[in-house]
Amino acid sequence: MRAIVITAQGGPEVLDHRELQDPVPGRGEVLVDVAASGVNFVDIYHRSGVYPVPLPTSIGSEGAGTVTALGPGVEGVAVGDRVAWVNVLGSYAERALVPADRLVPIPEDVSFEVAAASLLQGLAAHYLTHTTHEVKQGDTVLIHAAAGGMGLLLTQLAKLRGARVIGTVSTPEKEKAAREAGADEVIGYEGFAEQVKRLAPPGVDAVYDGIGKATFEGSLASARPRGVVAVYGVASGPVPSFDSQALTSRGSLFLARPSLVHHIAERDELLSRAADVFGWIGRGELKVTVSRRYPLAEARQAHEDLAARRTTGKLLLIP
Ligand SMILES: NC(=O)c1ccc[n+]([C@@H]2O[C@H](COP(=O)([O-])OP(=O)(O)OC[C@H]3O[C@@H](n4cnc5c(N)ncnc54)[C@H](OP(=O)(O)O)[C@@H]3O)[C@@H](O)[C@H]2O)c1
Repeated sequence: MRAIVITAQGGPEVLDHRELQDPVPGRGEVLVDVAASGVNFVDIYHRSGVYPVPLPTSIGSEGAGTVTALGPGVEGVAVGDRVAWVNVLGSYAERALVPADRLVPIPEDVSFEVAAASLLQGLAAHYLTHTTHEVKQGDTVLIHAAAGGMGLLLTQLAKLRGARVIGTVSTPEKEKAAREAGADEVIGYEGFAEQVKRLAPPGVDAVYDGIGKATFEGSLASARPRGVVAVYGVASGPVPSFDSQALTSRGSLFLARPSLVHHIAERDELLSRAADVFGWIGRGELKVTVSRRYPLAEARQAHEDLAARRTTGKLLLIP
């Protein structure tokens, strides 16, 4: 089978499209024919070294496809089942090994592409709006990179829960995408905290910040006293060390640095959040925008485009 492998961490050039032996499922694993793999920022962190991974490894964290073989001890899954998964390294491939207890069944009304595009970011948007800060009717929230993969989903879920959404974007095209997802106010990054304070004095109830280094200070300045700042990603680089007293002086803020891993660790939680996400999609309440599809061999291009802020919505690799 063909897969994307790295033997060292580094730039997009370390992504190697190569032939590998077909994997054989071990105890508790299934083999899946991959129909589509989601491209996520976490794949860039795995590739570049922001997050360490064992080397060599095939990379990619998310996908959807059809079960073709079962390892010993697997129950409740059958060959032919349509499934999706997240946080399983090796998903940029024609075939992937997935632990059976990490599989999410795909409902009939959801396509492979939509499943591969919605699971990782959909589950993350779910816990951020339902657990990290439970968005309520009448809240105002600030969502950075509102036209990105996460941003479009967060915007729609915050609107579903009755919030007013202020989004940041870098281009007019991205402003259009954020507004179509329901953002009430869309602003640029220049002086965003002052703009937010003008639009929503004395500040927003929650800030969703997936950008990190470049926006962190402004995010703290945008929250109302006792508001929540969720730094859920670091697309511009890690947040430098800071004095926690800043949280007090800004108004007793709550700072979170959450990860999806800890919000789907239990199988019940994985399945119940996924059921919500697929349910919203099935009912037309959540729209998943696949903006670009790349052949598996063009994984480098996909990473370059995502890192260079050239994209909106979700990117997929099609094996
Ligand atoms: N913690 C979790 O559970 C979790 C789960 C999923 C994703 N995430 C995080 O969510 C964030 C967004 O992920 P995504 O896959 O949906 O990506 P994305 O938002 O589609 O792409 C990143 C966007 O961030 C903005 N950005 C601002 N400064 C940037 C910079 N220096 N470099 C790159 N992008 C920059 C760009 O939008 P503008 O051009 O509009 O600024 C860019 O399009 C990432 O930080 C990711 O790690 C976290």
